[in-house]
Amino acid sequence: MNKKEKFYITTPLYYPSGKWHLGHSYTTVCCDAIARYKRLTGYDVFYLTGTDEHGQKIEERAKAAGLSPKEFVDGLVDNIKQLWKLLDISYDKFIRTTDDYHVKSVQDIFTKLYEQGDIYKATYKGKYCTPCESFWTASQLVDGKCPDCGREVVDAEEESYFFRLSKYKDRLKKLLTETDFLEPKSRVNEMVNNFLTDLSDIAVSRTSVKWGIPVPFDDKHTIYVWIDALTNYINALGYNNGGKDMDFWPADLHMVGKEIVRFHTIIWPAILMALGLDTPKKVYGHGWLLIGGDKMSKSKGNTADPFVLAERYGIDALRYFLLREIPFGSDGTYTDEAFLTRINADLVNDLGNLVKRTVSMAHQYFGGKVKKVESAGEYVELIKGVGEKVDRAMNKYSCSEALEAIFALVSASNKYIDVNAPWALNKAGDTEKLNEVLYNLLEAIRVIGSLLLPFIPDGAKRILAELGLKPPKELDLKPFTTREFNVGEGEVLYKRLDIKKELSELQSLGEVKAEQKEEKKVEEKEGQPNKEITIDEFFETQLLVAEVIACEKVEKADKLLKLTLKVGEQTRTVVSGIAKSYTPEEMVGKQVVLVANLKPAKLRGIVSEGMVLCATDGDKVVLVSPERKVNSGSEVC
Ligand code: ME8
Ligand code: MG
Repeated sequence: MNKKEKFYITTPLYYPSGKWHLGHSYTTVCCDAIARYKRLTGYDVFYLTGTDEHGQKIEERAKAAGLSPKEFVDGLVDNIKQLWKLLDISYDKFIRTTDDYHVKSVQDIFTKLYEQGDIYKATYKGKYCTPCESFWTASQLVDGKCPDCGREVVDAEEESYFFRLSKYKDRLKKLLTETDFLEPKSRVNEMVNNFLTDLSDIAVSRTSVKWGIPVPFDDKHTIYVWIDALTNYINALGYNNGGKDMDFWPADLHMVGKEIVRFHTIIWPAILMALGLDTPKKVYGHGWLLIGGDKMSKSKGNTADPFVLAERYGIDALRYFLLREIPFGSDGTYTDEAFLTRINADLVNDLGNLVKRTVSMAHQYFGGKVKKVESAGEYVELIKGVGEKVDRAMNKYSCSEALEAIFALVSASNKYIDVNAPWALNKAGDTEKLNEVLYNLLEAIRVIGSLLLPFIPDGAKRILAELGLKPPKELDLKPFTTREFNVGEGEVLYKRLDIKKELSELQSLGEVKAEQKEEKKVEEKEGQPNKEITIDEFFETQLLVAEVIACEKVEKADKLLKLTLKVGEQTRTVVSGIAKSYTPEEMVGKQVVLVANLKPAKLRGIVSEGMVLCATDGDKVVLVSPERKVNSGSEVC
């Protein structure tokens, strides 16, 4: 018996720390299309996804929500499973880092590495902020103080376990520079220059974090969340637990966003080397989906909600947009308008029309039965060649390129109808030519429908059903094997969207949500009239004077400026909504007041580390500055 070749593909394990958004859907849908493609081309596929549930951040979020960490993550895990069901994600296994078998294996791995000397105990020396219970290195301090709260720090030492990462430097360098381990290749240099040159051992335990997996032989220590999370990729296969699916290892593809490439291409292979296991065949670091137009409003947060979009426009629409609009490897932007326009142009106009027109004509002219006829020419060649193009794109894991090739055939088919005008052939009584034209078109649609199965499984099945066909178990890349078609009457596959109307409805949906939020805030405030804060509470906000040393406009966002600030010895990037009141040129050299301990937030793909204080007077936005020049980094209090 011929044994099928194995293919193991993984998504990152997402943090259940808040609302699931389009970004998570992007990676998961990409992996789903690849997994489905591989299954259809004869592979035995294992598609893994799951959630990364430990760590301080989740502990804090749960506390804020008034829940235990486990209760908190359980709710979000249910929710993401619903989302994957809604988006028709065909994963083979869902792993949670709180699963018993995972916890046990992580502990076994830690013990093994400790016993063989790859993990050792040492003293971590640094500065300690007592109220925050946090260690800092000298370079992380802001003016010698805690970067989180601005208070004094003390010299301190803590015992910690370290992983001997530095030992693997040469092998890692080889892996990164001499193989195709990391793609796109453009990310290799960054890894080598920024992280490999100064590779030191890393602390892999924390005593301050309680929500995590304890070091089995020293339970005041909690295993570092990335050691916990990364090892899921083998634990899901039964590592340390019978090894049932370990013949899927090494993974063919870890698909991850570019911000976690470092963990997957440096720490993870080093752990595997230490365990004596093969390293994954490939880590692909894809780009980011940037969300928002120039309106950085709350409304956009709602409309870019995958639940809302999939329920309102269908899963084909959402899957197609994600796979097509974002050139694989690069960043791409979501806007409601780009989304709706794509759907109307490609799914409704091009694909939907092609199927409807062709099937209706076949029905009308031949009662649905169209015989096979030999044919030749440019169009026939195009039909014959598309499978190979898709295969080439999918071997690079580029769904966007594969869809481009399929939709090139869709467009060519519509043109083929216009040029050959079947209605005229019918009128002229040229039945032979009419039969040839319709047979070619139906065969093209059969090829298109089959090739679309991995990307928009629902639509693809409906297209094949229009032709009276069942979806194939294996992809048939050899066209013109069909003997005769027996088609239906031609259903409408996708309804045309009134973009103006949809945009305004999405907008108001967003505004309703935003209003509800605002109302809730007001209610909360009203619940505690004139809430007074203590001086200590006030001082939790760290206000520092910063000097603008560079400033530029944020692309495609007419309200935003990107500021580079000098704060004492540090520089920081802050995105500020002041572009309507200040030009980049006039900002340089100004002193501003920075909220320095604000949690960083990503705006239009830029990580903003803090906020600049402004007075707002109607539409006017005016910067708050020290009345005379002071040293940058000076405290405001
Ligand atoms: O990093 N565009 O989890 P996470 C594209 N738990 N992809 C996006 C995205 C966006 N705007 N936002 C999120 C973690 N993603 C760790 C991983 S792995 C052992 C542990 C996707 O919840 C993308 O795949 O922050 C990114 O890498 C991942 O979600 C980050 O998910
Ligand atoms: Mg993240």
